[in-house]
Amino acid sequence: MTPIDSGDLTLSCKNSPLQQQLFQAIRSKVVSHLWPLGGKLPSTRKLALELSISRNTVIAAYEQLVAEGYLESRPGSGFFVAVELPEHYLNVKDRNPKSPAPSACRERPLLNQPFSPGIPDLAQFPIEKWQRFLQRHSGRLSLLGCQDVQGSMALRSAIADYLATSRSVSCSPSQIVITSGAQQALYIASRVILQSGDALLMEQPGYTQMSKILDLNRVQVEPLCVRQHQGFDLQQVFSSRAKALYITPSNQYPMGTTLNTEQRLALIQWAVASKSWIIEDDYDSEFQFAHRPYTSLQGLASDVGGANRVIYIGSFSKVMFNGLRLGYMVVPESTLEQCLVVKDAMGGDTPTHTQEALADFIREGDLLRHIRKMRRLYQHKHALTCQSIHRHFSPQVQVISQAAGLHVTLSWFCSVDEEEFVSQAAANGLVIRALSYYEDSAVKQGITRDWGGVVLGFGNVALDDIESNIAKLARIFDSLMAQA
Ligand SMILES: Cc1ncc(COP(=O)(O)O)c(C=O)c1O
Repeated sequence: MTPIDSGDLTLSCKNSPLQQQLFQAIRSKVVSHLWPLGGKLPSTRKLALELSISRNTVIAAYEQLVAEGYLESRPGSGFFVAVELPEHYLNVKDRNPKSPAPSACRERPLLNQPFSPGIPDLAQFPIEKWQRFLQRHSGRLSLLGCQDVQGSMALRSAIADYLATSRSVSCSPSQIVITSGAQQALYIASRVILQSGDALLMEQPGYTQMSKILDLNRVQVEPLCVRQHQGFDLQQVFSSRAKALYITPSNQYPMGTTLNTEQRLALIQWAVASKSWIIEDDYDSEFQFAHRPYTSLQGLASDVGGANRVIYIGSFSKVMFNGLRLGYMVVPESTLEQCLVVKDAMGGDTPTHTQEALADFIREGDLLRHIRKMRRLYQHKHALTCQSIHRHFSPQVQVISQAAGLHVTLSWFCSVDEEEFVSQAAANGLVIRALSYYEDSAVKQGITRDWGGVVLGFGNVALDDIESNIAKLARIFDSLMAQA
C-alpha cells in the first residue's frame, strides 16, 4: 500500500464549491493513474491543513469519491484509491487507448545471457569480501558530502601503483581521473582532444560504444580496416592527417589481434611527429593466455618521451563486474584541467564509498588475487570453447581471435547470414553478436566483407555449460547452412 502525497493537488475552478473542486482534482489524479491503484490517501485532517480548507469539506469530497467508486473507505485505516475504477470510465478508456510510453514499447535487450560479449564470470566474484569492504566505509560521515571531481586520492594512488606494476604505465596519481566506467573516460577524452568536424582513426570493426560517442560529438571516423590475424595497416596511420587514433592494442575489439612492441613504438613516433593523439583503450589486457602481455603504449611512450600524446583508459568491468561502473583515465598534465571541466559538467564526482572500498580492495591484494584466479579460469574456458567449436561446428567455421580476453570471434565463408544466426541464437536464449554490429554505420558502405562473423563471450558461461551451449549454436548454424 503506497502512501500518496498530496503533491501538486490544487483547487483551481473558482466558480464551483470547494467540495466539488476537491472531488474533481482527486478524480482526475485517479483516472489518469497519477495516483496508484490501492494507494493510501492523506488523512482528512492532514489534507485539510495542507489545502487550508475545512476538514468537513475534505470528508464530504472523499465520501462522494467513495460513492462513485473512485475511492474505498476502510474503517480504522483510511481512504484508498479503488483497485477497480468505475465501469463507465474504463469503457471510455478502452475506446481511446492511450499509446504506451516510449519506454514501454522498447524491446528489452537480453542481458548477461550465456555468450553475451563483455561479461565476466559474475558467479566467481568474491561478493562477501566485497561487501565487507563496502561496509568498512559506509559509516564514514566524511564521505557523505561533495568530493573531488577527479576521484578519491586513495583510489588514484592504488591505481597508479597497480598500473605501474602490471602494465608499466608511468604516471602519478595526479594524472588519473576516476570515471564511471571506461565509457565515460572515452567520452571525456574525445571531448577534450577533438572538436566537431575533426577526424579520428578508428579500427573497423571496432568498439561500438566509441562510435556512439564520436557520432554524438560529430567527429569524422577514418576507418582502419582490421584484417583477420593481421590487424590494421600501419601505413594508413602514417599517411593520415587525423587528429587522433583510437585503438585497443592489447586485444583488438572485436577481431582479437594485438600490436607488438615495434608497432606500438612506430605509432608513438607518428603521434609525436604529427602532434596527434593516441587513445589507448586497455580494457581487458589482464587476460592474455598465449604470451606475456606487451607493455602498454603509454609505458613505452614514457620511455621515449611521447607520453604527452597518449591518453590511457582502463576499466574495472572485466576484472571485477560491469555494474560497478568504475573506470579511469591516465592523462598528460596538459589536458587534466579540461578533462575535469568535462567530467564536472557530466555529473561531477563518482560515488565515494565505492571508490574507497575499491582502493582497499586493490591495496590489500584482493584485486590481484581475483585477477590471477580468473586468468586461470578464463584460460580454461577459452580452451574449452575453442575445442567445442572444433568438435561441433562445421570446418568452415574458424576461431580468428587470439587466446585472450573474454571472447572469441568466429568467421566463415559460406552463405550463412550472420544476423540471422544471431537472431536464431537469441530465440534459443543465447546472445552472440554479428560483426556488422561493430561496423560504424557511417563507414559501413565503404567496407565490403565476403565472410560472415560473430563474437561469442565465454566469460559468463559456467565451465560445465560451455560444450552443450556451443553444440546448440552449432545445430542452429547447421540448420541455417542447410536452408541457404
Ligand atoms: C573495447 C572496450 N573498451 C572498454 C570497455 C569497458 O567499458 P566500461 O568500463 O564502460 O564498462 C569494453 C567493455 O565491453 C570494451 O569492449
